Amino acid sequence: MNGPDRLPLVVLISGSGSNLQALIDQVAAGLPAEIRAVVSNRPGVRGLERAQAAGITTRVLDHQAFPDRESYDIALATVLEDFQPQLVVLAGFMRILSPAFVQRFRGRMLNIHPSLLPKFRGLHTHQRVLDAGEREHGASVHYVTEELDGGPLILQASVPIEPGDDAEQLAAKVLAKEHIIYPKVIRWVAEGRLTLQNGNVILDGNPLDGPLILKNNGNPLP
Ligand code: GAR
Repeated sequence: MNGPDRLPLVVLISGSGSNLQALIDQVAAGLPAEIRAVVSNRPGVRGLERAQAAGITTRVLDHQAFPDRESYDIALATVLEDFQPQLVVLAGFMRILSPAFVQRFRGRMLNIHPSLLPKFRGLHTHQRVLDAGEREHGASVHYVTEELDGGPLILQASVPIEPGDDAEQLAAKVLAKEHIIYPKVIRWVAEGRLTLQNGNVILDGNPLDGPLILKNNGNPLP
């Protein structure tokens, strides 16, 4: 699991950790990354069990023990620095991060969001998409900036909305796509192919002029 050519990363979670599990599975299958720790702001969540089952170090940093966002984020940064991550992976981490924290990890922090950004930033995306009468929905992986769910987009996958879909069914369909696109992007970082330079997403030496889209057959991504 360790090795000089593996990208050291830390995963931040708040809940179920199914995206974490997808990443654990891909690392086990050869994705060249080392998950040095999983940090949760909530104790007792399923994602912590998943990490422990995979032999990954876990930390709980409960936000309820801190008086404000700034003090929490300072403590969180201290925890992260212990593990010297080259990449911070937000995987269902349901907290807004302060500008100071974001700046500290600029270009080294990814998020996955359950909508086709820039549509439907924020919470409760599945119900909001249904209420808006949309015909498709999906998920987006992006670099994290100070703007909530507003950082440069990297890769998206869409799902059609079928008649009768409810928010729970839609969430499951979107999650299945998340489990494909997030490890794929992390692999690009681990292979040294993806960076953020001056606010531009660079893949294989070329700036993206918009997000890449995962096609249904899995191709034709680089
Ligand atoms: C995922 O759908 C993720 O996109 C979303 O939370 C879920 C976490 O699931 N993230 C956000 O809404 C971030 N604002 P998981 O814990 O099973 O990976």
